[in-house]
Amino acid sequence: MRRPDFERARILVVGDVMLDRYWFGDVDRISPEAPVPVVRVGRIEERPGGAANVARNTAALGARTWLLSVVGDDEAGRSLQRLTEGGRIGARLYRDATISTTVKLRVLSRQQQLIRIDFEDAPSREVLADKLEEFITLLPDVDVVVLSDYGKGGLAHIASMIEHARAAGKAVLVDPKGDDYSKYRGATVVTPNRAELREVVGRWRDEADLAARAQRLRQELELDALLLTRSEEGMSLFTAEGVTNEPAQAREVYDVSGAGDTVIATLSAVLAVGGAMVDAMRIANVAAGIVVGKLGTAVVTPEELDAALAGKI
Ligand SMILES: Nc1ncnc2c1ncn2[C@@H]1O[C@H](COP(=O)(O)OP(=O)(O)OP(=O)(O)O)[C@@H](O)[C@H]1O
Ligand SMILES: [Mg+2]
Repeated sequence: MRRPDFERARILVVGDVMLDRYWFGDVDRISPEAPVPVVRVGRIEERPGGAANVARNTAALGARTWLLSVVGDDEAGRSLQRLTEGGRIGARLYRDATISTTVKLRVLSRQQQLIRIDFEDAPSREVLADKLEEFITLLPDVDVVVLSDYGKGGLAHIASMIEHARAAGKAVLVDPKGDDYSKYRGATVVTPNRAELREVVGRWRDEADLAARAQRLRQELELDALLLTRSEEGMSLFTAEGVTNEPAQAREVYDVSGAGDTVIATLSAVLAVGGAMVDAMRIANVAAGIVVGKLGTAVVTPEELDAALAGKI
């Protein structure tokens, strides 16, 4: 299989952005204030997460990307703006002074996580209404829309966004969260992982039972496709034509976090240039196999994809 040229793909990514922040340091003593270690922070790392990581992935593939989301009017929000904008990404991060930017802060010492501290608030209705307006304005300029739902409240208008996008003839890809998928009705494809699908259709006994449950959900929600990502088991695509399974591609696995973002980003890039859903899944599966073999930068380049695809066939 050949990789399509993603340079002409135009993708709108909407959803919850977050800042993954890491504080590394040494521990030499226990605090005199409480029985806890004292970390002297020596190094800080920051990475864009959630929808921002999806946007980084589509841009790394070569697609022109718009990122639409809400952050707080704070230092973390400015960090996210700085980390995402430029290159192929046009970042439209709305500032909401009433909330703090979603931050996941990990404190680590000697490769061990000591604590994770989360900051998150749901955006206000006024800002979300502005965002919906901007969404409608941006639609004519893109080929596909990715809605990256991390359950932080940034996609309050998701049903309306899907409706507008489909009425404009754009494919809509959704990375879901939660147990109510009715808000995703009419999307082109929804991409749950195993735990996420289990939360909505229950535990399946075997492959036939899984197919029956997945297809029922797909029909109920009027989706063209449901793509189940199955970690080390690869992925399964459910469409009106039936089920297609792809085995996992990874040779070595170092870091699986963010693999789901790479999947939906690659899927959207292939669909944006007119590729078929089954081909999009195969290429996304290869991309995910590359990204889980990397530490740190959770994106895949066209060159890496070419090399992997050439090795495959
Ligand atoms: N342990 C693994 N071995 C091989 N491939 C993997 C592994 N974990 C993930 N992958 C690849 O990545 C894809 C997506 O992984 P997964 O199903 O875990 O998504 P996810 O839970 O949404 O990921 P995340 O939320 O961490 O971004 C899989 O379909 C597979 O191609
Ligand atoms: Mg995921």
